[in-house]
Amino acid sequence: MPFIGSFVPPGDKSVSHRLVLMSLLAQGEMLITGLSGCEDVNSSLNAFRALGGQARPEGSGLKIKGLDSQWSNFDGLEIDCRNSGTTMRLLAGILAGVPGRYILDGDDQLRRRPMERVAEPLRLMGARVSSQSGRPPLTIEGRPLSGIDYSPAEASAQVKGAVLLAGLSAKGQTRVTESKATRTHTENLINHFHGHVVTEGLKLTLSPGRLRLPPAFDTPGDPSSAAFFLVPAAFTPGSRVTALNMLLSPTRTGFLKILDRMGARVTMTMTSDSPEPTGDVTVEYGGPLTGTVVTADEVPSVIDEIPILALASTQAEGQTVYRQVDELRFKETDRLMSIRHQLGALGARVWIEGNDLFTEGPTSFIIPKELDSGRDHRLAMTLSMALYAAEAHIPIIGAESIGISYPNFEEHLNSLWQK
Ligand code: S3P
Repeated sequence: MPFIGSFVPPGDKSVSHRLVLMSLLAQGEMLITGLSGCEDVNSSLNAFRALGGQARPEGSGLKIKGLDSQWSNFDGLEIDCRNSGTTMRLLAGILAGVPGRYILDGDDQLRRRPMERVAEPLRLMGARVSSQSGRPPLTIEGRPLSGIDYSPAEASAQVKGAVLLAGLSAKGQTRVTESKATRTHTENLINHFHGHVVTEGLKLTLSPGRLRLPPAFDTPGDPSSAAFFLVPAAFTPGSRVTALNMLLSPTRTGFLKILDRMGARVTMTMTSDSPEPTGDVTVEYGGPLTGTVVTADEVPSVIDEIPILALASTQAEGQTVYRQVDELRFKETDRLMSIRHQLGALGARVWIEGNDLFTEGPTSFIIPKELDSGRDHRLAMTLSMALYAAEAHIPIIGAESIGISYPNFEEHLNSLWQK
């Protein structure tokens, strides 16, 4: 059965985290509309409130009062980031330069994720940061910081973001040079909040300074959520799905380029370009998809979409390869293995060579008794879409994790799927 119709995806999760967390460093008041109501962003809001931030509903939005780093000198404040790596990593950057001692912890999945990638540059800037063999909990003692010139080993917007946010209170400029372009929300929002970051290719230079909130901010829709309907529309005959008011930053919409080259019909209409490009996107089935090569440079722009793209490529003719996707090993689960095992359990030809992921299609799924998402929200949604495409109904273990990023997934699924 096809997917047909239009929907408004939830507010972008990456932008939502930053709106909330960067308010810790900014003065002024901002009315946010469309903030994501997902569990991860709630973890950032809890952290914001634990540090003394005020946020209250106003109309259909949330009014946030900037804290301008004016919080008590906490000695050993524990902040539970629950499942949210973005909360922990960006908060580490924010806290590195403010006096006090903070302990950032999380759930069992977050406790397995690497934190040395943010701890190292923050230490180089002058903060005291300790971890449990590179993993949470992180203890941060804020100190006066100095700007650094840093080239992260991983292509990570969270690492870049943490260093830039720490740099706001540092002495001197902070430079970050990336190996590959990652999502640009931290630098865009710093500039939108009257800070100063200059981007020259892959090099960013930040001048320290205070941030000031704009009076209002309308959060664009999340492409990483919308992808769970736009991608299946590309491989399900008769489908045509439109995501309205979606973020269109090129560092987030790599999956649309990939679907286009695999043979789907993709159209985009930009409705606004500031502070982030936003608009409507339609994906329409345009005949059977064909396999493609997703290059290492493209990977950061599709890092969260690889599970659902991998599902699409099991339905495409021929081989698809995703080059150098080892960062997937460090997500909520080892997503490289989860993709291989769970799509493999459906009878798809999926394998890993070194750090590359391969699929060979098209595949008619064999339906097992159950599937296991490992409580990884993006895996759970991918498996859900695989089962809808195959019109099969079996349990997905850990599907309750979907609320981590997409609370109204089920509602949108019911409105788009033409039963
Ligand atoms: C994010 C960046 C990405 C992404 C994550 C959100 C962000 O992680 O996978 O879901 O908001 O900065 P990395 O920066 O670790 O690649």
